[in-house]
Amino acid sequence: MKRCFSILFLSACLVFGIAACGNAGSAASGTSGTSGTSVSQGSVDTSSDDTKTTGDSEEHKEGDKVLVVYFSATGTTRDVAEKIASITNGDLYEIKPAVEYTADDLNWHDSASRSTKEQNDKSFRPEIGSDPVSLDGYGTVYIGYPIWWGEEPRIMDTFVESYNFDGITMIPFCTSASSGVGRSDRNLADNAGSGNWLDGQRFAGGASEADISSWIGGIQ
Ligand SMILES: Cc1cc2nc3c(=O)[nH]c(=O)nc-3n(C[C@H](O)[C@H](O)[C@H](O)COP(=O)(O)O)c2cc1C
Repeated sequence: MKRCFSILFLSACLVFGIAACGNAGSAASGTSGTSGTSVSQGSVDTSSDDTKTTGDSEEHKEGDKVLVVYFSATGTTRDVAEKIASITNGDLYEIKPAVEYTADDLNWHDSASRSTKEQNDKSFRPEIGSDPVSLDGYGTVYIGYPIWWGEEPRIMDTFVESYNFDGITMIPFCTSASSGVGRSDRNLADNAGSGNWLDGQRFAGGASEADISSWIGGIQ
């Protein structure tokens, strides 16, 4: 029985390792992000007890526009995000890390790699490099990410903690080698502290437009 479990675990690791490292980008070198948030542009609500980006008004107007926000280290989540945007006629916003993740950074076999260290520290907040987005007019935000160590990458927490999602339906989606959504959707909702968060949906890499469409059609 123990041997059986070991074989299963090793097989899962092999599949997961290939998926994780198969097409990792390798732009900037560097091993760790810096903490902080990126709300230097857009309107920042300083009247409340925090400094969350709210767009052009303090409260969101009822909006029917759709925004698809995503972080993708190796392109899998981007593919799903683009399909969601195409199906919903939504806008796309990419969360780009201020310091891009290299293949070494993403090496989950290495306990000293940047991603492993970040995932081991729930309070770590990698800095976002992309310009902030105004949420005005958006009634629905799909928010996508890869599963890292069973959870959302910490940069997703940087994002949700930087914005005020009042009046917006938040729909998490993720991609992974094999893990489910786990508690990532709840983590994001808890850390955001605003917005109407629905349950998350996990997709495998290369999910078809038909599958994604069918999921979207079933949301209400
Ligand atoms: C640091 C790291 C940790 C990961 N942890 C998991 C995991 O716990 N479970 C899983 O099924 N896949 C895991 N993966 C695989 C990714 O979730 C999967 O390849 C995902 O689709 C990548 O999305 P992306 O290309 O948008 O970055 C991990 C990948 C990396 C780089």
